[in-house]
Amino acid sequence: MKSIQSNIKKAENYLNKNYCIGIPTETVYGLAANAYIDSAVNKIFRLKRRPKKNPLIVHYLDMNALKKDCIINESFIKLYKKFSPGPITYILRLKKNSKISKNVTNNKNNLAVRFPKHKTFRRLLKKLDYPLAAPSANISTRLSAVQASDVKEEFGSKVKYILDGGKCNIGVESTIIDLIKKPKILRLGGLNITKIEKVLQKKINIDINPKKKIASGQSPLHYSPGIPLKMNVKKAKKDEAFILIKKRKMTSKNYFYLSKKNNLNEAARNLYSCLRKIKNKQYKSIVVEKISNKGIGKVINDRLLRASRF
Ligand code: TXA
Ligand code: MG
Repeated sequence: MKSIQSNIKKAENYLNKNYCIGIPTETVYGLAANAYIDSAVNKIFRLKRRPKKNPLIVHYLDMNALKKDCIINESFIKLYKKFSPGPITYILRLKKNSKISKNVTNNKNNLAVRFPKHKTFRRLLKKLDYPLAAPSANISTRLSAVQASDVKEEFGSKVKYILDGGKCNIGVESTIIDLIKKPKILRLGGLNITKIEKVLQKKINIDINPKKKIASGQSPLHYSPGIPLKMNVKKAKKDEAFILIKKRKMTSKNYFYLSKKNNLNEAARNLYSCLRKIKNKQYKSIVVEKISNKGIGKVINDRLLRASRF
């Protein structure tokens, strides 16, 4: 307990000095810095090798903190009450007098905001008088990080500090919903869309066309394990890593389980670490058995499809 407290203090000190640090969330780890300070935000782009035109998500403790920077609307309030803190990101209009660095949004007047659920991250946010810009803690186009050691693997000593919060409970990024005009899903993620539709009492458009580049999560090259990947495969060759979702008898040793019981939540939690483990071995390619396209299975398939465009 004491050590968590002192780790949070360390994180706070680095952030106050405008450094950028690794932080845990319930979805994936983030690379965080003070969203109000241009130079701090710039460090995120530099470290991630992220194009400046690709905007960042800003993390707030709660709606009260958000109100200083964004204009809220009815749909937002409904969804916030039901799902935040949690794995959902909202796109809202920035207020004219908001303090958010122009670099966060690439000078645009809308902002992606999220209220993380991870306890340690929330304890950190409570201590700060500014929100944190934080994209996923990986080099652009590469695999997301779901534990502190993954962040270290991505950035080495270039990241001053990583606040260790254990392995991420959800394991895939947040669902993004654009609430500026008619609600529209921009990225599939940790929160199921049917739950969102229930709260808003209408069908929501999904705009995740991989050819259209609004968000980098929508860009063709993403979540890349660095070797070719093929989906819906029944049998693997010996030099291929074979990703499985349920237990089966295997004679060779080239298989990796996302789950042994076809449990999709467990599979999502293991997805990035499984791909990362394979990437660090000598396989020439990855093949994945068919994964049910239900619930969070849809998100797993979305990420695998993008990872397959190597
Ligand atoms: O779960 C998550 O959302 C994680 C954790 C760390 O919070 N963050 C995350 O950030 O996945 P990132 O940067 O890897 O993905 C955010 C996506 C990017 O594809 C970005 O283009 C999009 O959100 N985005 C950010 N601001 C936007 C905006 N104003 N309008 C549309 N898309 C936006
Ligand atoms: Mg990302």
